Amino acid sequence: MSNNLQIHTDIIQSDISELLAWYHLAGRKLPWRSYWPELTSAYHVFLSEFMLQQTGVSTVIPYFKNFIERWPTIHNLATASVDDVTAAWAGLGYYARARNMHKTAKIISQQGGVFPQTISELLVLPGVGPYTAGAIAAFAFDKPAIVIDGNIERIVARYFNLKTRLPALKSELPEYYKKLMPLQKNSDFPQALMDLGNQFCTSSAPICKDCPLNTGCISAKSDNPEKLPNRPIKKLKPTRQGQIFILRRKQGDISEFLVYRRDDKGLLGGLLAFPSQGWDDKLQKFDINWRPVKAGWITLKPAIKHIFTHFRAELQVFLAEYETVDFSSWDALGNAEEDIIKQQKFEWIAENDLHLPKLMQKSLHLARQHLACYHRGRHGRR
Ligand code: ADE
Repeated sequence: MSNNLQIHTDIIQSDISELLAWYHLAGRKLPWRSYWPELTSAYHVFLSEFMLQQTGVSTVIPYFKNFIERWPTIHNLATASVDDVTAAWAGLGYYARARNMHKTAKIISQQGGVFPQTISELLVLPGVGPYTAGAIAAFAFDKPAIVIDGNIERIVARYFNLKTRLPALKSELPEYYKKLMPLQKNSDFPQALMDLGNQFCTSSAPICKDCPLNTGCISAKSDNPEKLPNRPIKKLKPTRQGQIFILRRKQGDISEFLVYRRDDKGLLGGLLAFPSQGWDDKLQKFDINWRPVKAGWITLKPAIKHIFTHFRAELQVFLAEYETVDFSSWDALGNAEEDIIKQQKFEWIAENDLHLPKLMQKSLHLARQHLACYHRGRHGRR
């Protein structure tokens, strides 16, 4: 080993000691997190990591708490119905993940409820990729596993000043990640990096001067550490225009909405939705004059914006009250939504029992605002 590298290795070790000491004092207290030598149960790591893929920590906390209260063990989750699990997941997005989570829970439950500890065995489970396998092995079993999420990718690229453009960079990262790994506290190490990425090594405004890794970090000494990792120029997502139709029925104090359950496959698969057109692959045909049924539709403002993985959706929301509906027009539909309406069973569901995906929640929120204003206005005028 050359002298230079030796010096660098020493610096790395001292930086990582500083990182772990900082994390011990200042790391976030999260409901699924334990600090070494305590370890988090594999079930809790599994739940939280499935929820945290593409969703932020603050959004996940109430969902995680609700899941462990409702299904305290993996056996409880395995015996729950997939509809109950996806309903409890509503709002976290990417519903295929909820279904994979449920499949994996069933497999582990059948194996006595014990998670495997090796990456190769973990990788066989539905929905478990290298990141989640690494997280379970490290956080639950203290294994020296490679755990690279977006935060850690950024930190490693900056620390070693790796200029290879993403996604090619991804294949270089494990080798450099290993250079940073400590001799113990394998469970703390990746989570310390995640918190560092959250507090110091942020994407656009890193605070290198206070960062525990700033002695060895090569980019910290450059003028523009925020330039790494080197990202390809983003292609703009196409925008799809669409419409959502909210039909409300009020009986006494109970407010109900007309919804249907979407096909298991595809966007928002298996979840409740209001009739709509234009945004979904299957319902992309768009006729601005189409309505699912004749009624006194009111156009709500502003239009809803929602970002899916491959496109943006801009959706105009319409609201109508049951009394204004001419149900004899229900069959007179002129576009792709027709099949859906004919095949799916629509149902009235009370507002308090509606577990909707984010996009539909946003539309309902708009409708609620309108209804509150409208009824307050009517009341005030009396
Ligand atoms: N993101 C994914 N897993 C996490 C964890 N354990 N702590 C903080 N952020 C995370």
